[in-house]
Amino acid sequence: MVNFEFQCATKMIFGKGTEEKVGEELKAYGATRVLFVYGGSSIKRSGLYDRVVKSLTDAGLWFTELPGVVPNPRVSLVRKGIEICRKEKIDFLLAVGGGSVIDTCKSMGFGVYYDGDVWDLISCKVRPGTERVPVATILTLPAAGSEESDSCIVSDETIPMKTGFGSPLMRPVFSIMNPELTYTLPSYQTACGCMDMMSHAMERYFSRTPNVEMTDRVTEAIIKTVIHNLPIALAHPNDYAARSEIMLCGTWAQNDMTGCGREQDWFNHVLEHQISGFYDIAHGAGLAISTPAWMEYLCDNEECLPKLVQYAVRVWNVEMNFENPKDTALEGIRRLRDLIRGAGLPLTLKEAGIDTEKFEEIADLVTNHGTQTCGAFYPMAKEDVLALLDRMK
Ligand code: NZQ
Ligand code: ZN
Repeated sequence: MVNFEFQCATKMIFGKGTEEKVGEELKAYGATRVLFVYGGSSIKRSGLYDRVVKSLTDAGLWFTELPGVVPNPRVSLVRKGIEICRKEKIDFLLAVGGGSVIDTCKSMGFGVYYDGDVWDLISCKVRPGTERVPVATILTLPAAGSEESDSCIVSDETIPMKTGFGSPLMRPVFSIMNPELTYTLPSYQTACGCMDMMSHAMERYFSRTPNVEMTDRVTEAIIKTVIHNLPIALAHPNDYAARSEIMLCGTWAQNDMTGCGREQDWFNHVLEHQISGFYDIAHGAGLAISTPAWMEYLCDNEECLPKLVQYAVRVWNVEMNFENPKDTALEGIRRLRDLIRGAGLPLTLKEAGIDTEKFEEIADLVTNHGTQTCGAFYPMAKEDVLALLDRMK
């Protein structure tokens, strides 16, 4: 285990009916003027919008709204939100939605206190300061883990480019998590969310740092819990138990608890952010295509193989083939692909409607024009990225 620091101060408010407390909670944290940020129409259709408005009103809070956050959230809306925050002297941001809404609020919060253009912060040209408008969330989609994470991801639709920044001060102050709010999710979003949380677990799990037994075991439990509950939630969208397990997994997969004391990889996320930056596909769908292909690619590397075998045996209950460990690892990957396919997600770029045209550009972005490698478990050079993209097509 390597040295680490870990602090996650987000208060998790979990369970049925918890969204009704949002006004009182905000008030307890000192909010007086709130910007209520959300996406499209899902919260209006479900009735959540009305409950939030009632709770804010009952608590006597002044608030205004910013709707219109889209998946792969746009910097243009972040800029608009910053203007509103300054004009209306907003002292709390309330994000009601999934990762895109929460990330919009996180970047907005820091952008308010930055004199230049917020893209300087998002693209890591300038480091964020210590002042920000705090963020609270009501989570409606367990996936990105942004409800407790210290980072945010935003797209500049004009370049196009999707990237992000982080700060220990970026974690939301509190997150309200009612699994019932996820009953209305389309199957595709449920599946994408589960793929994303499994990927967050795996980006940390696939590490060469030795002696990380406890966090390995916790990560395996998170992945196994998702594998067990995803088919239940798809077959029975209103199954509270399955939705609860998935929701908790989403948060704990990404709050970095399981990343403590180890070198992390993150290659699949860097690659996927380029793909969804160009093609605007769901983040979880991009990960469903890249992750098994990447694992298969690494099976030929003898330093990576033992961990891929451990994953197959412990997570997928594959019987160990001592004569041919690679076969064991490949069987684990095959079972992952079966889960992905069964959940209705794509396994190839072609199935997601993506051609080979941008391969060179994507590989350049991931490796800074071939001058750097990406990932720690296996440092992917530009030629590796191109070879992997070829397998993904
Ligand atoms: O806009 P509405 O109408 O609300 O519809 C949304 C949206 O179209 C819908 N939705 C959300 N909750 C719903 C619902 N529909 C019905 N019922 C509900 N309860 O779902 C669609 C997708 O929402 P989005 O917020 O984009 O999804 P997700 O939570 O997967 O977030 C993805 C974004 O998070 C970033 C991704 O890159 C992507 O941009 N990530 C953020 C991370 C972080 N901050 O820590 C880490 C992740 O790795 C990820 O990169
Ligand atoms: Zn992710």
